[in-house]
Amino acid sequence: MKTALVLVASTLAGKTLAGAGNQSPSCTDISFPVTVTAANAIIPITTPITFQQVSGTYNIAARYCEPQNFVESRENTLQVLVHGITYTRNYWSGDGTLETSYDGAMYSWIDFASKQGYPTLSIDRLGNGLSDHPDPVNVLQSPLQVEVSHQIITIARNGNLPISKSRKFDKIVYAGHSYGSVLGNGLTVKYPNDADATILTGLTSKYNFGFIESVFVPAVVPASTVNPKKWSTLNSGYLAIDNKTAFELGFYYPGYFDQGLVDLDWENSGTVGEGELESALVFGPEVATGYVNPILDITGQHDSLMCTNPDPITARTPTGLWQTYNCGNGDNSSLAETKSLYPNADYEYYAPLASGHCLNFHYDAQLTFDYAHNWLNWNGF
Ligand SMILES: *[C@@H]1O[C@H](CO)[C@@H](O)[C@H](O)[C@H]1NC(C)=O
Ligand SMILES: *[C@@H]1O[C@H](CO)[C@@H](O)[C@H](O)[C@H]1NC(C)=O
Repeated sequence: MKTALVLVASTLAGKTLAGAGNQSPSCTDISFPVTVTAANAIIPITTPITFQQVSGTYNIAARYCEPQNFVESRENTLQVLVHGITYTRNYWSGDGTLETSYDGAMYSWIDFASKQGYPTLSIDRLGNGLSDHPDPVNVLQSPLQVEVSHQIITIARNGNLPISKSRKFDKIVYAGHSYGSVLGNGLTVKYPNDADATILTGLTSKYNFGFIESVFVPAVVPASTVNPKKWSTLNSGYLAIDNKTAFELGFYYPGYFDQGLVDLDWENSGTVGEGELESALVFGPEVATGYVNPILDITGQHDSLMCTNPDPITARTPTGLWQTYNCGNGDNSSLAETKSLYPNADYEYYAPLASGHCLNFHYDAQLTFDYAHNWLNWNGF
């Protein structure tokens, strides 16, 4: 681990900023097709797992942002941002578009990246937001989603993203949150050269299954019953969270967030495909022996889905007592243990002290963004 002193050093040290005077990134909503084939599991998943081949061409919707500050060495470095379950691309921009992000730039990873000169592509994962919504059981599974990420990166590297200042991106930074990190791990296993750097957030090698199975899974029901106005036309294999308490317990660490943002986040809460949920729980993160590029894990110290040690003191909130969880410290922490997934890579980790699962939406989000971008800078990105 780098020392705190190094952490404080500005990300921009040694970089030339040639800002056009823009106050914010310049973003466009785009959409483009990907054609993919994968071996998905047959659901219900059996032991041993049986597979079937699925393939198709799907539209992926995304937000592409040119940074507000021009940094020449980063012009062709693209951050590909992949959200977690029940979110959309807006996870990376303060739970809104760049214009409507909550509390200005406070919770916007994209805004932070833009100030440092990085172009970003925040996608709606297949099955979410404005991307296509295929069969949520047989098609929407981790193996296929990894192929989608691989195609997106290939398109970006070949200069084929439908953006106005078209170019071949020669460096790819993959950053995921939660299930987006599960897929990022899958990418490092299957296509170890796709990402030049990988940032996995909200993921450790050891899930908190006790919590997931007792609180999270029971709160997930067919989306059409949760919000018929929004989701009545969706296949019943599209699920959504129907319990706000379970949502808050799963995603937030009490005392360190703005309730207004949580309420908005709940209102914007999206769907998850049954196949994604099952494949995420069954396959889990794998050892990426072939991945040798820099990798950073950022997981909240109190991530209920990823930290297994119950905190000794439960937190009192307006809705009652919350049992919270802890990822531990030092060499025995869940984050340190996650290095076992990357035996041949330069692995580092950072646990924001006052964050739960949705670390981008806690008060220490800016510290998290700063750490991630300092780490990129240290690694030459
Ligand atoms: C919502 O989830 C909480 C936490 O697991 C649980 O205590 C509560 O009973 C659930 N509410 C309903 C209506 O199921
Ligand atoms: C970490 O684990 C090792 C081996 O299990 C043990 O000897 C050590 O005391 C633990 N350290 C802490 C700080 O818990």
